[in-house]
Amino acid sequence: MSNSSDSRRAAITSVGHYLPEQRLTNSDLEEMVETNDEWIRTRTGIRERRILGDDGKATSFMATKAAQEALDRRGLTADAVDMIVVATVTPDMLFPATACMVQDNLGASNAWGFDLSAACSGFLYALTTGAQFVETGQAETVLVIGADKMSSIVDYTDRTTCILFGDAAGAVLLEADDEKGLVDTIHHADGEHKDLLCMEGGGSLNPPTHETVDKHMHYIHQDGRQVFKFAVTRMADVCVEVMEQNDLTNDDVQYLVPHQANKRIIDATANRMGLADEKVMLNIDRYGNTTAATIPLCLFDWEEELEVGDGLILTAFGGGFTWGASYLTWAYDGADPQWDLPRSVL
Ligand code: UT7
Repeated sequence: MSNSSDSRRAAITSVGHYLPEQRLTNSDLEEMVETNDEWIRTRTGIRERRILGDDGKATSFMATKAAQEALDRRGLTADAVDMIVVATVTPDMLFPATACMVQDNLGASNAWGFDLSAACSGFLYALTTGAQFVETGQAETVLVIGADKMSSIVDYTDRTTCILFGDAAGAVLLEADDEKGLVDTIHHADGEHKDLLCMEGGGSLNPPTHETVDKHMHYIHQDGRQVFKFAVTRMADVCVEVMEQNDLTNDDVQYLVPHQANKRIIDATANRMGLADEKVMLNIDRYGNTTAATIPLCLFDWEEELEVGDGLILTAFGGGFTWGASYLTWAYDGADPQWDLPRSVL
C-alpha cells in the first residue's frame, strides 16, 4: 500500500513514552517459576521488564502519559488533536474504548478515536490507519498510541510466557509533510494459526465463568516454538518485500525498528536485510515484550540519534497472526531546539 501522493505524507512529528517504575528482573522471576537468568537472556535477550502494579492504574493511564509527552514535546495543546488511535490487547475494559478514556484524560475535546486490536502488530496497523486520515486531509493531527498492561493477562505461574512480557506505552504524533513521512506499508494477516497465540477467555466465545477462570483462560497462551518459526521467516520476508518494492538497498535504511519479542528473531531479520547491528534498534533487554508499545518505545529511545531524512523500516509480527513492515523517512530533528514543522503545510 504505497502512498502515491508525494505532496501530502503523514509524518511522525513527535514521540512520547511511559514506563512504569517497578522493575521485574530475571532474578525476581527465578523466585517465582522454575527458570534462570541465563536461559532467559540467551533465548530471548531480556534482562528485565516494567510492571504497572495493581493500584487501579490501567492501560489508559500509560497511554495518556505517553500521548501527553508527545504533545508537550511538539508544543501542542490537546485541543489540536483530531483523532486518537490506541493499539492494545489490554484495554481498560472491553468497552468503552481506551481511546475515549485517553481523549477525556487529555482534554482532547476536538478528537474522536477508537481502539485497534492486532496484538504485537497493533502499532504498525494503527500507524497505517492514522496515516490514511492525514494523507487524505480528513485529519491534521493524529495521535497513534501503542499501550499494553501485559501483566494483567500474564500467568505468573507459566514460565513459558511470564518471562517475556512487560508493561509500557509509546505514542507518536502524525501531521502532514510535503516530503517526508510514511512512504509504503505491507500488512498481512493469517487467522489459521489463531490458537498458537491467544487469550481464549473473556470474549463472546468464552464469557467469564468460574470454569474459565479455573482453567486460566484469561491469560495469554502461546506455543512459543511454533510462533517463533513463523515470526522469524515472516518478519524477514516482509522486510525484504518492502525493500524490494521501494528499490531500497541496505544503504538506504538507516534503522530497522523491529517489534521486540525475541532478540534472535530481530537478529535473523537484520541479517536477511544485510543490516549491521548498529542499524538495529534493540531495547528488549530493558523492557521485554510490551506488545503494542515496542516500536514507539524504540523510536523514543533512539530519537536523538535520528536525523531528518533517515530511512526507517518498522516491522512487527504477532498474534492473529498479524505482521507487516512500513518504510518511512524521518521528518523531525527532536534534538534540535530550533526544529519546527511549518504548520503552514498543514
Ligand atoms: O510478540 C508476539 C510474537 N511472539 C513471539 O515472537 C515469540 C516467539 N517465540 C519465542 O520467542 C521463543 O519460542 C520462546 C522464547 C518463547 C521460547 O524459546 P525456545 O528456544 O523456542 O524454547 P522452547 O519453547 O523450544 O523450549 C526449550 C526448553 C524446553 O525444555 P525441553 O522440552 O527442551 O526439556 C522448555 O520446557 O526450554 C524450556 N523452557 C524453559 N526453561 C527455563 C521453557 N521456558 C523456560 C523458562 N526457563 N522460562
